[in-house]
Amino acid sequence: MENILIIDDNLVEAELIVNILKEKGYESTFAPDGASGIKELDTNHYDLVLTDLMMPDVDGMAVLNHVVSKFPKTKCIILTGHATIKGSVDAIKQGAFDYITKPIASVELLMVVEKAVEFKCLEEENIRLKKQLKKRYSYTNIIGTSKIMDNIFSLIDKIADTDVSVLIQGPSGTGKELIARAIHYESYRSEKPLVVINCGAIPEALLESELFGHEKGAFTGAYKIRIGRFEMANGGTIFLDEVGEMSPALQVKLLRVLQDQRFERVGGTKTIHTDVRIIAATNKNLSTAINNNTFREDLYYRLNVISIKVPSLKQRKSDIPLLINYFLKKFQKKETDIITGFNPEAMDAMLAYNWPGNVRELENVIKRIIVLCDKHVVEFDDLPEHIQQIEITFPKGDTAPALDGVVSFDIAVQDYERRLIMEALEKSDGIKAKAAKLLNIKRTTLVEKMKKQNFSKSACA
Ligand SMILES: Nc1ncnc2c1ncn2[C@@H]1O[C@H](COP(=O)(O)OP(=O)(O)OP(=O)(O)O)[C@@H](O)[C@H]1O
Ligand SMILES: [Mg+2]
Repeated sequence: MENILIIDDNLVEAELIVNILKEKGYESTFAPDGASGIKELDTNHYDLVLTDLMMPDVDGMAVLNHVVSKFPKTKCIILTGHATIKGSVDAIKQGAFDYITKPIASVELLMVVEKAVEFKCLEEENIRLKKQLKKRYSYTNIIGTSKIMDNIFSLIDKIADTDVSVLIQGPSGTGKELIARAIHYESYRSEKPLVVINCGAIPEALLESELFGHEKGAFTGAYKIRIGRFEMANGGTIFLDEVGEMSPALQVKLLRVLQDQRFERVGGTKTIHTDVRIIAATNKNLSTAINNNTFREDLYYRLNVISIKVPSLKQRKSDIPLLINYFLKKFQKKETDIITGFNPEAMDAMLAYNWPGNVRELENVIKRIIVLCDKHVVEFDDLPEHIQQIEITFPKGDTAPALDGVVSFDIAVQDYERRLIMEALEKSDGIKAKAAKLLNIKRTTLVEKMKKQNFSKSACA
């Protein structure tokens, strides 16, 4: 329900407006002059103000200025006589939503009021959507409690609201783009565009005009002028993904933008100024690229003012259970989605696996399990085969002590136990849960024994 305030020194006219609005279900409050109108505005919240322009002492312009400066979300509509059309045009320039000429016609009044109400709803919806976007990419949605991720979060916190360039390095699927988005949406630029460009996915010949735009006729096929990504990102952030793929010629142009925020469109002579924050990412080792002369060292130092090194998933295995939980919640939307978690054997296998595709691979495995598994708790057999086939590395020096000589009883027993465990593991393809079943002991007991027998850490994991 909208709160409407009517400010008019002509009581008959004001009463007419109140009644027209009332018939359409709009409740309104009335103030008989500018001063009391402003007082009312300062006391209560109003979505819409209809104010007469010509009033003694505090006039409609003063009311408008008050609304624009103090309550920018409130829409102001000016009521004006024919003689003062110019005044109402000035009012629009000063920020009024619209004006209505007197004598008031109910059709026109309702049309303008409805338009203002609709506009305000759209504005609010827009703000809500932007907030949602910000929340989706806020770094609270980057999952991880390991020390290494914690350090990344503190760094994002420190640098987000600055303009420094950031270089994000890490293997594929580790969350580099997620981090770039978080930096943008946590910064003061979050209301302005985040423009993403994958330098590795665009042919070299097109990348220059994609980044900097081109003038009409700059090359065959350039039929009209084109705005590049740097111009589009003005006021916001540009995310140069796979920056290591950029050609040396383009690297020079990029260096210039980083140095003085200026560039020319392809085929153009006009220098264009742009205010963008640059975040770059790569899964290449740029130091090697510098040594090979495929990446400019000066550009590297310009991009790398702040460096974020994202770890592979195997470097932060303690985050795996958390990530599994997060993806289970994120992707289970249907009523038939019933998975609550993983049993210990299945979780062990997920922890033992090396995750070469990092978080992206884990995300895809969870999506697949949600589709294929119809149990509440995921078991070992529900995992993809390659994760079930965890390699168990056996300790070296397996030769048994000679039982026909003089041997210590303890060593002989130990040796027998070790052989039994190895045989059971071999028979069950290294799957500890199955091996434990064969030996008729608990899985935890088996792991304890393996540790005592100095099996490798990964085999005991
Ligand atoms: N810490 C994380 N928490 C939640 N989701 C994550 C995390 N890291 C990555 N993801 C998810 O994994 C997928 C891959 O992440 P992203 O695209 O950011 O990786 P990348 O490092 O940019 O990979 P590439 O080098 O292949 O472009 C995305 O769906 C992303 O949402
Ligand atoms: Mg990426």
